[in-house]
Amino acid sequence: KNTWRIGVAGLGTVGGGLVKFLTERPHFAPAGGTAVITAVSARDRSRQRDFDISGYEWFDDPVALASSPDVDIFVELIGGSEGPAKAAVETALRLGKPVVTANKALIAVHGRELAELAESVGAPLLFEAAVMGGTPAVKMLREAMVGDEVDAVAGILNGTCNYILTEMEQGSRPFAQVLAEAQRLGYAEADPTTDVGGFDAAHKISILAALAFGCAPHYAAAEVEGVDQVELLDIKLAGDLGYRIRLVASATRSADGVSVRVHPALAPIGHPLAETRGALNALFIEGRRIGRIFIQGPGAGSGPTAAAVAADISDVMTGARRPVFQAPAQSLQPFAKIDAAHN
Ligand code: NDP
Ligand code: HSE
Repeated sequence: KNTWRIGVAGLGTVGGGLVKFLTERPHFAPAGGTAVITAVSARDRSRQRDFDISGYEWFDDPVALASSPDVDIFVELIGGSEGPAKAAVETALRLGKPVVTANKALIAVHGRELAELAESVGAPLLFEAAVMGGTPAVKMLREAMVGDEVDAVAGILNGTCNYILTEMEQGSRPFAQVLAEAQRLGYAEADPTTDVGGFDAAHKISILAALAFGCAPHYAAAEVEGVDQVELLDIKLAGDLGYRIRLVASATRSADGVSVRVHPALAPIGHPLAETRGALNALFIEGRRIGRIFIQGPGAGSGPTAAAVAADISDVMTGARRPVFQAPAQSLQPFAKIDAAHN
């Protein structure tokens, strides 16, 4: 196939970034093929956008876009675990179309059933942008898993919370003011409670746990506490004692099962998590043979996330084929939860 026609549902921070990416690199051509956006969908056609969509076919309904015969790869950048995002992804997969999504809520909640659908029709379902934005965490974890068994993954997986915590460290700006700035910068989810309540990090660590431990994502098993109760005084007291507050997401496996948690934690100044600042994310992977891997990089924002979406589009075009998770979806069980109190 030489030209791949891309349908993009969702033209916000990430969708807009993807349109700009493919406008700036019109010959984005992995393995000799060219990716061209042909059709788009969003909620409001008349909304002012800082990019031109006049050359694309417009769909009010993302499900209609997903089923358009003029779309070869369906890219879902709407968000949310239910509603139009889920319906459109299911529609595309049922038609055997490759799907690329940045939607961690969707994958964390419905990953197994979508993987089963994708594998039953032989269509790729890729979600690199769903975790750590522009930093290829999903790809790296998959590679680490080929030759090793992973016992733990842990890190900072929400750019908005990390931005808020590190900006509050600078001095006197209160939580609400810095959150508004994170929203302006395009880091936050449509409903920022998803970020500050820890739920977005829980979506992401549930996906990483599934990949790391060869099971199905099981978002409902995550224990979640966010940063919404953190005050300037907490940050100052932590600093006086030589610590920084970070929202840490972790998944660990033991003989009893898997523990998935998100909570604010104290990181000693100088520790890589304490030194992860702004909207950066960071991840430790603990492998039995490889030992400890650490990566740090952009976790949110238009450009980095769109680059990860483009990398997945490239993987579809080059024909990369593997199960959506680590094993065929039919064989995946949700991980058995153990109570964090027993860890
Ligand atoms: P935005 O809120 O900026 O954009 C959402 C887009 O979806 C908008 O274009 C909106 O339309 C459209 N939309 C909303 N509801 C509907 C609907 N019912 N039917 C059709 N279109 C709809 O979100 P983001 O771009 O920030 O996020 C998109 C996805 O990417 C989410 O899953 C998010 O979790 C994920 N993500 C976001 C990152 C980020 O840094 N922002 C990073 C990594 C992943 P309209 O423009 O007309 O309002
Ligand atoms: N709202 C998310 C964050 C976007 O702040 O990390 C990236 O997934």
